This record gives sequence, structure tokens and C-alpha cells, in this order.
Amino acid sequence: MSLRQAEEAADPFTPVAEIPRYGAPRAGIDPDTSKSWLRRAMPVVKAHKLSFFLALGLSFAGLVLQVQIPNLLNKAIDTAIVAHRAPLSFYVYWILALGVVGGLAGYGSRLAIYKTAYNIEFDLRNIIYEHLSQMSFSFYDRVQSGQLISRANSDIRSVQMYMTFAPLILVQCSIAFVAFAFMLAISVPLAIVAMVTMPAVYLLSVKMRKSMFPVSWLIQARLADVATIVDENVSGVRVVKSFAAEDQQLKALARAATRLQWSYVKDADLRARFTPAVQNLSQIGLVLVLVFGGYMVIHGHLGLGAILAFNAYLLMMQVPFTMLGMLIMMSQRAAASADRIYEILDERSEIVDRPGAVDLVDCRGELRFEGVGFSYPGGERPRVLEGFDLTVAAGERVAIVGRTGSGKSTVARLLTRFYDVDEGAVRIDGHDVRDLTVRSLRANVGVVLDEPFLFSVSIRDNIAYGRPTASLEEVRRAARAANAEEFIEQLPEGYDTVVGERGYTLSGGQRQRIAIARALLVNPPVLILDDATSAIDVHVEQKIHEALSHLMQARTTLVVAHRLSTISLADRVVLLEGGRIVADGTHARLLESNPLYAEVLARSSAEESREHETRTA
Ligand SMILES: Nc1ncnc2c1ncn2[C@@H]1O[C@H](COP(=O)(O)OP(=O)(O)OP(=O)(O)O)[C@@H](O)[C@H]1O
Ligand SMILES: [Mg+2]
Repeated sequence: MSLRQAEEAADPFTPVAEIPRYGAPRAGIDPDTSKSWLRRAMPVVKAHKLSFFLALGLSFAGLVLQVQIPNLLNKAIDTAIVAHRAPLSFYVYWILALGVVGGLAGYGSRLAIYKTAYNIEFDLRNIIYEHLSQMSFSFYDRVQSGQLISRANSDIRSVQMYMTFAPLILVQCSIAFVAFAFMLAISVPLAIVAMVTMPAVYLLSVKMRKSMFPVSWLIQARLADVATIVDENVSGVRVVKSFAAEDQQLKALARAATRLQWSYVKDADLRARFTPAVQNLSQIGLVLVLVFGGYMVIHGHLGLGAILAFNAYLLMMQVPFTMLGMLIMMSQRAAASADRIYEILDERSEIVDRPGAVDLVDCRGELRFEGVGFSYPGGERPRVLEGFDLTVAAGERVAIVGRTGSGKSTVARLLTRFYDVDEGAVRIDGHDVRDLTVRSLRANVGVVLDEPFLFSVSIRDNIAYGRPTASLEEVRRAARAANAEEFIEQLPEGYDTVVGERGYTLSGGQRQRIAIARALLVNPPVLILDDATSAIDVHVEQKIHEALSHLMQARTTLVVAHRLSTISLADRVVLLEGGRIVADGTHARLLESNPLYAEVLARSSAEESREHETRTA
């Protein structure tokens, strides 16, 4: 079985050229919102438990070895150096061996923990992306892409850091208990004295945590604001520059950056207050050990080695305790980030396959809108369609005409289920579109949007977007039918020319013809054309219309038309006004009998010539 056959067998409606390079995320986020953020993320950690526990185990083993060293040091001083009861070399070899093995364990644990960390990050990223790709249009109407980008980057990073490094730090803290046990074994009173500052360290950390949490939330939110401004400025750079609004935009960015800076400084201020205090409290412990330990040694209650060992233990304990402060900080940031990630993940797409949804197969292309009522989601939006009825026979070509904003594009969006109707139903071949699988529906209904979007890949790949397995010959044929071959071949690299972002290196008319070729290649039984109002010169217009008439052959076509020439491609014209069809018939009859139709047409052709004038002026 060829690659292509294999894919088509797997899902005949999904255009994928390659077997996915990445494995799917191994686990998802627990959907139960009543659980804490960490519990919800647990399945992802569990999916990598092997490398995770290997890291923790190795880290623990390494630390257990290290914690022996001060004790050996104590014995070396007391028995070998002071009392000459054992050879010094014995201790030297032991300490050396422990150091080497401990170092190796540290190496292994780091390797394993970084591997786990990046695997978790990878999974989280894929979980978010998979979720985003399932979200419906109404979601994208609402959210800002800068917010999404920042959640998919910095938020994932802080969650990942916490989930992997927190347990490691906890392991290191647990070693403090082992160290304390050794200290107790050497001298109970001195061990207690050495530890008196620890409760204060703990209390300070708690205080630090309380004051830092809101700030870390603020930082993440403001980072996203900055990302949004940058994103809009880069993708809208043509508008910004054409209004010479660079300064204004820079000010907007500066404002957002200042707000971000304020929260970072606040964060630094809090950290500067607490971290040194937490760190230096343990120095007081050292002083206390020197005073009390020194007193005990002088009076012969304790060996000299004990003081040295206590110093080493206290230093060893200081590291985890300072890291505990870091851990608290990380946990605050991770909690804030996780909230922001879950905010997205907890949103459900409204457009999903119903249980028991069937595939649309052998589509004839009969369309029927039955009493459709629709308003865009989000608050009290006005009704766009109300009691909208339209039947299109299989193979028929119907032009939709109406004033701007009358809902023509909306009709197209309902047919492809970009949105669901509020009332009534949209049917294809008698099936309610909501009873069909979304994939099969969209595979059967081709759309050429009024503002064609090209990806920054080669022209060939742009045309083959809906059917990546198409051969170059098939792509050429589609381009030829769309009247695009001529200009493509004049490009420096022909079909391999990479178009700039969104296809901006091509003209509007060229982009439109590529979009038509793209739809032609998929060859869907139902086609929707959202004709752009932009005036294109007569020569190109004619070429596009030739392309369109090729495209419209032998398939049901719904074309949103502004120009007479587009309307002439259709068998029938319907006039959309006030959310419903108010006239239906051939162009000639409507022109004769319906004054509104004549008015709408006159207006759009006036607009057209005005645009044409400004263009040629
Ligand atoms: N994503 C959206 N969210 C909310 N309202 C929308 C959205 N898209 C369109 N609308 C509103 O719905 C109405 C119909 O829009 P639609 O795009 O269908 O008009 P149209 O007939 O295609 O106009 P044009 O001829 O200018 O393309 C308009 O009033 C518009 O403001
Ligand atoms: Mg429109």
C-alpha cells in the first residue's frame, strides 16, 4: 500500500501529505476543573514517569553519597589526624570515591530530568495546539493571537519548569533531613542549636510566597499584552506604515512595556527583600555552631572534626533551603501560567461532531436553507439572518446579491459550519449539516474566500493545500484552468516560488486565481465563491471569470456576486435583504421587476468605478 493509500484509508477527508513527524502527546490534561492545577496536569507527568523517577532516584542516590562526606571528614580529623588511630589515606580514598560516584549520579539525573522536562514541554505544546486547531471560528473572533502565542510559549515553559524541577528540589530538601540525622548522631545539643534559625527561614518563605503571587500573575498577563501589540504591528505593518502611525504604535508598545517593566521591578523588589534574608539566616547558624561548638570542644565535650562536619552540613542544607525559596517562586508563576493555559483548554468548541454523526459520501450537492435564523455569538448581537429560505438544486449555480453587511458571507459560513444556525437548518442532500462529520462536510464543500489567504510556502504547495499528494501535473492543470499558469511561469522560480507571508508578494488578482486553483484541485461537489469587491482590470477580470466558469462546471455553486459579470455566470440570482431572500429569478427578470435589485447593483458598480478611478489616478 502506498503512503497515500494508507492515509486515505485512515481518514479520507484529511489532507495530509506526510505521516506526522511528531508522535501525538502521550496524555492530556485532566478535564475535571474542580481539581488543583497540578493534579490536572499529572497525566502528562505520568506519561514520562520512567525518566522522571530515574532522575529523582539518581539525584537522591548522589545526595546520599555526598552527605556521608562531612561525617567521614569528622572521623578523618578525629581518628587519623588528631588521634593517629587509623591511616589518613583510608579516608582520603573513601571521600574521593564518594565524590566521583556522586558526581556520576548527578550527571545521570540531570540528563534524565532535562529529557523529561522537554518531553513534557513538547506534550503541553501539542496539547494546546491540538486544542486550538479544534476551536471554532467564534473563539478566534474573540481571542487575540498574541495572547495565544504567549500562552503557548512562556506559560508552557513556566509550568514545565515547575513540574520537573520542583520534585528535584524537594529531593534535595529531603537530604536536609538525612544531614540533620547525621548531625544528631554527632551531637544532639549542637544539632539543635544549629537549626534554630530554620523556622524563621520557613516563615519568611511563606511571607515571600504570599506577596509574590499576585505580581507573578501580573507579569504573565502583561507579557501577553506586549506580545499582542507586537503581533498586531508585525502582521498589520502595511496599515501602520500607510498611516505613518509608527510613532503612535511605538507609544502603545512603550506603554505596555512600561506596565510590564513595573511588574518586573516590583517582582525584583520583593525578591531582593526576601532572598538575602532567607540566605543569610543560615549564616547565623554557622556563627552559633562556632560559638557553642567551640565552647564544647574547648571543654572536651566534642571532637574538633565535629565543628568542621557541622559547617559542611549547614552549607549543604543551605542550598536546598535557598532553592526552596526559588521553588515557591516557581510554583506561583506556574500556578498563574497553568490557569491561563487551562482557560484556553477548558473552552469547548461549539462545532463538533455529534455522537453518531455520519460522513457525507457521494455528495450530489443539493442545498437547502430552511427558516434559518442566525446571529453571531457573544452577547446581544443583531440578527443577521431571519427566516432565511433557499433551495439550490444539485448542479445549479446561484448568485447571492445584497447590500454590504446584508449577510452574504454569513450564508457561506453556515453552509460549511463555521458557525451553527440558531434556528432552522441547513441541509446538504437532505442531511442536516449538524448530523454530518465536520471533516466530510468541509471536504465536500469548497470555499474561495473574498480575502484569499496564502501561506508562505511555494505556489505549488499553496495550490496543493487541500490535496498535498497531488502531482505537479495535477497542480499545473488546476493552475491552467484557473488562468494562473501564465503569471506563475513568469515568476523567477515558477511553481517553486515561495510567496511572502499571506501571499503579499502577489497581486490581489493573482492571489485570487491561486485560491481558485486550490479549490479546483480538490474538486468538491459544492463550491462557495465569496467574490471580492475589489476592482480588477477588465483583462484580469475576464481571466478570472474564465477560471470561475471552469470551476463552476458540473457542481453546485453558490457565488456571492457584486459585479454584473460574476452574476452572468449564474443560472439564477437571489437578493438578500433584511436577513431573508426577497427576490429570486434570472438577472433579467429581477432587473425588470425589482427596484431594490437595480439599486444594489447600481451601488456596487458605482463603488467599483470609484475604486477603479482612485486606482488609476
Ligand atoms: N465574525 C463576526 N462576528 C460578529 N459579527 C459579524 C461577524 N462577521 C460578520 N458580522 C456581522 O454580520 C453582518 C453580516 O456580515 P457578512 O459578512 O455576512 O456581510 P456580507 O453581506 O458578506 O457583506 P459584504 O458584501 O461587505 O462582504 C454584518 O453586520 C457584520 O457586521
Ligand atoms: Mg462578505
